[in-house]
Amino acid sequence: MTEPTEAVLKACPGCKHGVDRRTFLSVAATAAVLAALDACSGLTSPGGSFNGSYGGPLTVTLANFSTLATVGGVARVDGGSGAPTALYRSSATSFVALAMVCPHAGFAPVEITSSGFFCPAHGSSFSKSGARQSGPSPTGLLAFAATYNSTTGMVAISRPA
Ligand code: FES
Repeated sequence: MTEPTEAVLKACPGCKHGVDRRTFLSVAATAAVLAALDACSGLTSPGGSFNGSYGGPLTVTLANFSTLATVGGVARVDGGSGAPTALYRSSATSFVALAMVCPHAGFAPVEITSSGFFCPAHGSSFSKSGARQSGPSPTGLLAFAATYNSTTGMVAISRPA
């Protein structure tokens, strides 16, 4: 295995990936090292599913998502169309729609956890309403307007194109 140059080792200043010199030299798989450096650069989305287009408006039928039947429930609702999008039921009649794209370096989709969302790229965590809780992300998750129609049982999410 070829040893990395100082330039390569310094390519990720301040990064919390844990790719220090010792780790770097001990990693046998070059691909794993390249993936970690790529995540530091922010040039691509490590999750690979967010291409920069949010996909436009989205209408969600609540009956299709059992976790949204109760207050506090969260579900991914985009169905693979556009940016990964989550819906959180914050009360009986209100919802919060969020882009599951980490503001730090664009990892998508962030994971749904029991307390909100977690980005496995560098460890940022967010509340169910998208507020930043910890980690390197400078902000919370991007929120979209969400309008609940109690008659139809649907939520209209105003995602940009
Ligand atoms: S992309 Fe770095 S914490 Fe999510």
